[in-house]
Amino acid sequence: MSPFAAALMNSRIAHSMSRFRAAECAGVSERTWRSYEQGQRAPRKSVVRNFYDRSGIPMTEDTAKMLRASPVARVMSITSLKGGVGKSPITVDVAACLVERGNRVAVISHDCCYEDGLSQGGRPRTGDLTAGVEFFGYPDVFFSVAEKETFTKRLRHIVDHGSPMDRSGLEFEMGGTLGSMVERIGSCRMFKDLHADYDYILLDLNLKVDLIRAHSDLVAIILDSACPQSVDSAERLNLRLQRSKGGRRTPSCFGLITRNDVGGRSRELEEYLGGLDLPPGTAEALEAARLVSSNFRERILSDITALPLTRLVTHLTNAHEIVIDKYNYEQPFMEGYSYFDSVLDIAPHSHAADEIRRLTSELVGLRL
Ligand SMILES: Nc1ncnc2c1ncn2[C@@H]1O[C@H](COP(=O)(O)OP(=O)(O)O)[C@@H](O)[C@H]1O
Ligand SMILES: [Mg+2]
Repeated sequence: MSPFAAALMNSRIAHSMSRFRAAECAGVSERTWRSYEQGQRAPRKSVVRNFYDRSGIPMTEDTAKMLRASPVARVMSITSLKGGVGKSPITVDVAACLVERGNRVAVISHDCCYEDGLSQGGRPRTGDLTAGVEFFGYPDVFFSVAEKETFTKRLRHIVDHGSPMDRSGLEFEMGGTLGSMVERIGSCRMFKDLHADYDYILLDLNLKVDLIRAHSDLVAIILDSACPQSVDSAERLNLRLQRSKGGRRTPSCFGLITRNDVGGRSRELEEYLGGLDLPPGTAEALEAARLVSSNFRERILSDITALPLTRLVTHLTNAHEIVIDKYNYEQPFMEGYSYFDSVLDIAPHSHAADEIRRLTSELVGLRL
């Protein structure tokens, strides 16, 4: 029997789990599971990983070591063509949650808040889940040997012969000085190597659709349920991601609905205001506005349901807002929620954290 099959069987028996349930966690049929236990087949690493991720049974150190011997990271992108819909904060939240679940996680960021935060000395606080995430800037990673060679040539050409415009153009594009770029070429990581070092890699790459398509296994496209443009752009992004180039595999794409709270009235505000008597005209106008808004949101929802995109079951609400507002309120002036913060660290028992845990669990559980 293969060592992985033995590890799976031992874990199953030690936790009195049925073969049916074990197969379900591993993402294989019960018959296939039996064939592992009978020594007829060896499980693939992804099967082993799925079993431990989904069953919640801790992996033994020996099994983890075997997986690390030639591991393959799963690459996810939580993205949108539209800015300001929460790509970065949701990505970092999911990364923190994957750390909480015991994974080794890298985030590759191409985001001005990341660059800016880093240049101001920002980084995760010691002890936070986000401190367990390894962050890389987009210029710190080459996605292929060809990319490294082309970039090196271009940089050399600009250093030797470039006009001041060329120089500042490249500095703007890469977010650093030419000197730092020369240094980076020496210290850059190859994506292939990161793939071997982490269980999960999350890409927070703004508008780099070709890179996202070429390297992600899974893409969650954000559908902001209050923003019709985000739905239009999701459709375009999905088409671009599914267009295979040169017969290459395309990622599995899903829709992730955010800001999915509709029709609420603020009970907290009403209680706080207590016996406030609104003039009848104002009360009616408020109620009318509430109905108009709900019609508007329903129209967006029907556009979302018409998209040729499978939606994730988990959706996100505005729950993060209260968490972030409360946190910011308690921070000194000019400090507050940053790129390196996660709702799991600042409010682990909040609804926002609960949503992220459910989302992560769903993403981990998807059979691709
Ligand atoms: N957990 C979350 N779920 C949904 N939206 C979030 C979450 N955290 C932050 N946001 C929203 O994301 C927006 C900021 O994201 P931003 O970094 O500008 O997005 P992007 O990376 O897409 O450009 C804010 O409007 C904030 O309310
Ligand atoms: Mg961003």
